[in-house]
Amino acid sequence: MIPATMKAMVLTGYGDIDKLDYRDVTTPSPGPGEVLVQVTATAKNNTDRKAREGLYPTKKGEMQSFQMGGEPTLQFPRIQGADIAGRIVAVGEGVSDSRVGERGLLDFNIYANDRRDINLTPDYFGHGADGGYAEYVSLPSDQFHHIPNPELTDAEVASMGMCSYQTAMHMMTSANIRAGERVLVSGASGGVGTALIQLCRIMGAVPYALSQQDKADALLRLGAEAVLDRSDMASFVDRVKAETGGRPIDAVMDLVGGEMTDIFIDTMIFDMNARDTYPRLSIAGASGGNISEILWTRIYLYQVQIFGVSHGTREEAEQLMAWIRGGQLKPVLHGAFPLSELHRAERYFVSRGSNYLGKIVIVPDSQWNEHGKPYALETA
Ligand SMILES: NC(=O)c1ccc[n+]([C@@H]2O[C@H](COP(=O)([O-])OP(=O)(O)OC[C@H]3O[C@@H](n4cnc5c(N)ncnc54)[C@H](OP(=O)(O)O)[C@@H]3O)[C@@H](O)[C@H]2O)c1
Repeated sequence: MIPATMKAMVLTGYGDIDKLDYRDVTTPSPGPGEVLVQVTATAKNNTDRKAREGLYPTKKGEMQSFQMGGEPTLQFPRIQGADIAGRIVAVGEGVSDSRVGERGLLDFNIYANDRRDINLTPDYFGHGADGGYAEYVSLPSDQFHHIPNPELTDAEVASMGMCSYQTAMHMMTSANIRAGERVLVSGASGGVGTALIQLCRIMGAVPYALSQQDKADALLRLGAEAVLDRSDMASFVDRVKAETGGRPIDAVMDLVGGEMTDIFIDTMIFDMNARDTYPRLSIAGASGGNISEILWTRIYLYQVQIFGVSHGTREEAEQLMAWIRGGQLKPVLHGAFPLSELHRAERYFVSRGSNYLGKIVIVPDSQWNEHGKPYALETA
């Protein structure tokens, strides 16, 4: 029995966490081509906070969320939460009843068209339409992918959501990463970083992780070739050389930006004769600062190719779902919070301790005992 109303965490406007209001709202019903999903876990992403705080400027001085298709799509009230796992409980017109009961994971994009190979106006559930910080959500049936794997819990499935994994994949494909290439991954312990390390190994590339020393063992277990401590950037190129046997990094997957990006470029260009491809920099995040000072002469004389990455394509999401089903991708789940305590989760997320790795998931209170409690994080 689907209730007429449900619990949801509603974002009421731009601002701090006081703009998140836990309340009863009308349960959505699935439209044509949609499925109604009972949410069991939704992974948290940085984008929730950034969108809430209006930190997605595409012009200097702008303070609002992005509007890639021309019009602002973040309207209030909005239910955030992009990386949704759950079970189909009802289907809309044109969708087979046989899907009811299916456990799945959302491809979080709101695609502007049916193109499988390109996504020019990235927008997503939880931003341009309601997402998973609720008990139910209506989603396009073709984007809710069946993940039957009994070895994966729902919280683990959510932790492999596309906001991190598809972005990581598109960083790799944009830079045309080949087997055997040395890839530097910054922000390595986060959601996108841990996905990048795994994807490098799947594609045969060799990931060098930039992180913090106390996360080194976990990152090495995940597949990093070596872990470089970001607390000392002064001798960074020498430390990279020590790990690579003096050879340059082939491509950088950058999530940090700020002052570090220029140093990352150094790791690729110190010996151009030792390269047989152009240096490549994919950037999808700027956790260390939104402004970098980089000489254009360095970019064009060394022929550094720069790829801005936001989300990815339908075919990349489908490939990732196949790798999740096939067991090639592993969950990196740090912990869970109940939906009613999203404020506490947000505070924890911005002041994470040194042992943090991977993803946090948010679980509706009605699902907590089954899907959240085993991963509960005790915090202040
Ligand atoms: N373009 C897109 O489509 C897209 C999609 C998803 C995410 N993003 C962006 O990509 C970035 C990473 O996302 P995420 O979900 O992986 O975030 P996350 O889980 O918060 O991880 C970010 C990691 O960056 C490192 N870091 C944080 N602050 C830093 C600083 N000041 N200097 C250096 N390193 C710092 C930390 O890793 P260590 O402790 O290991 O160094 C942290 O765990 C964010 O900026 C996010 O907004 C973009």
